[in-house]
Amino acid sequence: MLDIHSHILPNVDDGSRDMEESIEMARIYLDNGVDKVIATPHYIEGAENSTKDENLRALEKLRETLSNNGLDLKVYLGNEVYFTMEIINYLKEGKVSTLNDSRYILLELPMYDMPLYTEDLIYELLLNGYIPIIAHPERNLKIMENPNILYELIIQGALAQLNLPSIEGSYGSRVKDTGEILLKHNMIHFVGTDAHSQNKRAPNVEKSLDILNGIVDQKTYKNITYLNGLKIINNEEIMVEGPKKYEGEKNSFAFLKEKVVRIMRNFRDQV
Ligand SMILES: [Fe+2]
Repeated sequence: MLDIHSHILPNVDDGSRDMEESIEMARIYLDNGVDKVIATPHYIEGAENSTKDENLRALEKLRETLSNNGLDLKVYLGNEVYFTMEIINYLKEGKVSTLNDSRYILLELPMYDMPLYTEDLIYELLLNGYIPIIAHPERNLKIMENPNILYELIIQGALAQLNLPSIEGSYGSRVKDTGEILLKHNMIHFVGTDAHSQNKRAPNVEKSLDILNGIVDQKTYKNITYLNGLKIINNEEIMVEGPKKYEGEKNSFAFLKEKVVRIMRNFRDQV
C-alpha cells in the first residue's frame, strides 16, 4: 500500500512528537505492507504552521534516520491544507507543498461545514493547473447528510481520499456508513491512514484493508491503495471511473436494515 495522508514528520504539527516516534511509525508501516508514504503536515490559516523549509529539513532528517536504521520506507513531502480561498496565494508564495511537488494538493474540509466558496476554490485550483484532493470527506457532516455534495465536487474535477480507520468504525458508525457509501459509488480515489502517532492513531491498516477488500472490486482496490498514489508521486494524470449518484431513498431501507442488524448484533454480544 501507499499512504498519501500521514503525519509522520517529527515535531512539525500535532502528529509524531519526535524522531523516535516517527521511526516507530515507520516500523508499523513496513509491518503492515506500506512502502511509500506522503507526509502531509497540517497547514491551517492563522495557526502557527511549520514552514516549507522546516518540513523539508524534518524530511531529510527522517530519511537519513530511516536509512541508518535499515528501514526501507520511502517518504515524500506534501501538506494537508485547510480550506481557504487563500490557498492559491499560498501556492504562489511557496508556503504550502503539493503532494511530492506534483499537480495534486490535499485539502482539509471543516468537520461540520461546507464553505460556500468550495466550488469557487476547486474551480480556481483547476484553472491554475492543480488537482484538489478532498481529505476524508466521510468525516464531513454535510457530506454525511448528503453524499451527493461530494459527487458534485468530483464531477467538477476534484478527487477524494478516504481515511482507512473510517471503515473500521474508529470515528463512529455514521462515518463508517458514509465511507462505505462513498466507496460503493466510485467517489473515493485514494485511501490514507491520517496516522498521527505510534499508539492511538497508528498506521495499522491490516484490518481496514481487509474490510476494504470486501467493499470494492479488485481493480478499484489496487487503484485506490497503490496505483493512483503512485501516479501522484510521478505527477501523472489519473483517469478515474465516473462517480455514481447516491440514491438516498432507494438505499435508505438497506441502510436502516444494516443499522437494525448492527444493533441486534451488539445487543446479542452484550447478553
Ligand atoms: Fe490529517
